[in-house]
Order: sequence, then structure tokens, then C-alpha cells
Amino acid sequence: MNPDLKLLQPYPFEKLNQLKAAVTPNPELEHIALSIGEPKHPAPDLVQQALVNNIGRIENYPTTKGMPELNQAMADWATQRFDLNALTTEQVLPVNGTREAIFAFTQTVVDRSQARPLVVSPNPFYQIYEGAAYLAGAQPHFLPCLEEHGFIPDFSSVAEDVWRDCQLLFLCSPGNPTGAVLSLQQLQQLIELADKFDFIVASDECYSEIYIDGQAAPIGLLEACARLGRDDYRRCVVFHSLSKRSNLPGLRSGFIAGDADILKAFLLYRTYHGCAMPLQTQLASIAAWGDEHHVQENRSQYTQKFRAVLEILQPVMDVKQSDASFYLWAKTPIDDETFAQRLFAEQHVTVLPGSYLSRTIDGVNPGANRVRMALVASVDECVEAAQRIRQFISTL
Ligand SMILES: Cc1ncc(COP(=O)(O)O)c(C=O)c1O
Repeated sequence: MNPDLKLLQPYPFEKLNQLKAAVTPNPELEHIALSIGEPKHPAPDLVQQALVNNIGRIENYPTTKGMPELNQAMADWATQRFDLNALTTEQVLPVNGTREAIFAFTQTVVDRSQARPLVVSPNPFYQIYEGAAYLAGAQPHFLPCLEEHGFIPDFSSVAEDVWRDCQLLFLCSPGNPTGAVLSLQQLQQLIELADKFDFIVASDECYSEIYIDGQAAPIGLLEACARLGRDDYRRCVVFHSLSKRSNLPGLRSGFIAGDADILKAFLLYRTYHGCAMPLQTQLASIAAWGDEHHVQENRSQYTQKFRAVLEILQPVMDVKQSDASFYLWAKTPIDDETFAQRLFAEQHVTVLPGSYLSRTIDGVNPGANRVRMALVASVDECVEAAQRIRQFISTL
């Protein structure tokens, strides 16, 4: 067996299941889950229709590079959304959801023959960054996302030897679980650092379309490159997904875009890995990337949920409107594990303890005393959950 498998941590939901199994939930209340980041709004009709219309394409092998029409649709979407100088089809590649892509990308770019290959990641973080680093033979290096820095790592305090050994820097903007968005200035400083120390910046932007109605859309890494006139996106890649943008977590469709040389290596890796996107999925994805109406509709629903839930919770707990994403990253009046366990037992609401999404570094777990709430259920259910949380807090 690959010895690095032993380095993998139990997934946060395994820990959560154990935590919940130790108690019995209130039988008088229906369960409401705010724990899983799976969108619950309906999948767009036009995508379902495209999938059904093209189901016969299961008779054909797809290519790893994807159909030219899909590559064009993804390039057009990114170009328009991030105000780029038209992306070429060499600067974009389809992936079967960003989870596999983030994992496989790390395997492609890490040079394990170096003395201390580092993958630098925010903390708390999307768990794949860590597992991908270990299985690529690298060491994850975590940067805490603390409230005093707007839940963005304090990049200026990172030691120079860390940057020197860094091969890959993960950004997550809007962040899971914090919802924090990196600014143009922060992104451009990181691009400068990447040039100075020769590492790759991979920006996970799968929540980029979930932001408050009427507010400015979150900026992306490629946009930051474009504003510097860096149209080759050297050392930079971004990950985008239809899972959250279009309520299609089961379609498994997204893309990576950026530096064509890096993508060429990634395409080679993927060809051997064997992860071409099925043709009917590609055709359904073209329909999804080409439509913004359902995305706007989605945003309106999340905006409504944020407003309603915050109105109920803010008088009783420290919880702020996130910059973007569908998460609230709320401070708990008692430790996060006990809070989540008792809330489940007494009010049959599941939230995710923040410490399960973070690692303790130098004695500090930046997720401690926080819980992640995903506002994915219907407005009514989210409101009901918020009222139960408020009721629970009043008993503490
Ligand atoms: C930060 C982040 N990145 C990537 C993903 C993976 O999404 P998908 O594989 O559905 O594109 C998720 C899913 O929850 C996520 O929260």
C-alpha cells in the first residue's frame, strides 16, 4: 500500500457522524441540515433537457481535452465574467468537478525530488488541498485565516523560507468556510511573490457566483493577472465549477483555466489518469455556462436567506454577513463541538464544527469556537433552523 495513505485525516463528516451518534436527537422536530455544502435549489431545466437530449452520446468515447464547443463556452464565460483578454482554448480544460481537478492538479505539479516540497493552504480549508499535498509527496503548510485579518491569511507574515520551498499556493476565494474574498491588491501581491519564488498559484473560485444581489461580483485571480497585462496568466490557474453556480453538484462539471504551459502538463497527466468528461455532460455543461438567468435567480434566493437568517441570529450570536459563498462562519458561545452536538440533540439541526475544517498549528485551531452553516435548504427551512438555533442559545 502507498504509505502516504496513512497521512490522510478522517473527513470532517466522518467526525461529525461520530459526534452525532453519541446523542439522540429531539424526536419531535424534523431534521434540518446546515452542515453539507450541497446546493438544494433545483437544477436548471435547460441543463436537464440538454442531458436527456444527448444521452445517446454514451455510445462515444470522449476526449480528455473536451469538445471544442465546450472549451469555447468555458473560455467565453470566464472571459466575460472576469473581463479578460479572450482566453484561448489552450488556456482552459474541462474537469469532472473541481474536487478531482484540485487533487489531480497537485499530483501533476508537485516536484517531490526537491528537499522540502510545500503546498501552502489557508486554514480552515477545503479538505482536498491537504490530502492532495500528502499524496503528491508534499507537506501542507497552513496559514491561519483569522477574524483580525478578515479571514484572509496574513501573507506578509509568512517566512521567506516557506515561500522558497512553496511549490503550490492554494487560495480559496470566496472562501469555504469563511466566505472571505481576496482583494485585487492581495491577489497581485501574491502574483509578485509567485514570480519571485517561482511557485504556482491555484485559486479555487467555485463560489464566485454566489454573492449578495446588487453587490460587486468577487474578483478572480485571472482578472488580477489581466489587470497587470499578464495575458499568459503565467504561474496562475483558477478552478470553476457548475456545482454551486448552477445547482449541479451531481453533474460533476467544472474547468481549470490559466497558464497554457501548466495546463499542457495537466492534460498529459489527465490523459493517463483517464478522466475525460462524458459527452452528454459536456453538452449539458455548454448549456449551463451559456445561461446567466438561473445564476441570478440562485443569487436572489441566497440573498433572501442570508437576510432572514442574520436577522434572527445576530441579536444572539456573533455572526456576520460573509463577503460571498452560501456559508455563515459563526462564533459559538461554547466550544464548537459541544455546540454542534447539543444543537443536534436538542433542536435536531446539524451544523459543522469549525475545528473539523482546520488543523491545530502552534497550539491554535482557527476554526475553534466557530461553526459553519450552509444556507442550502429552502428559505423556510433556513428560517426555521435559525429560530431553533436562537432558542438553543437562549438555554445556554
Ligand atoms: C472550496 C471548494 N472547492 C471545491 C469544491 C468541489 O466542488 P465540485 O467538485 O463539486 O466542483 C467544493 C465543494 O464543496 C468546495 O467547497
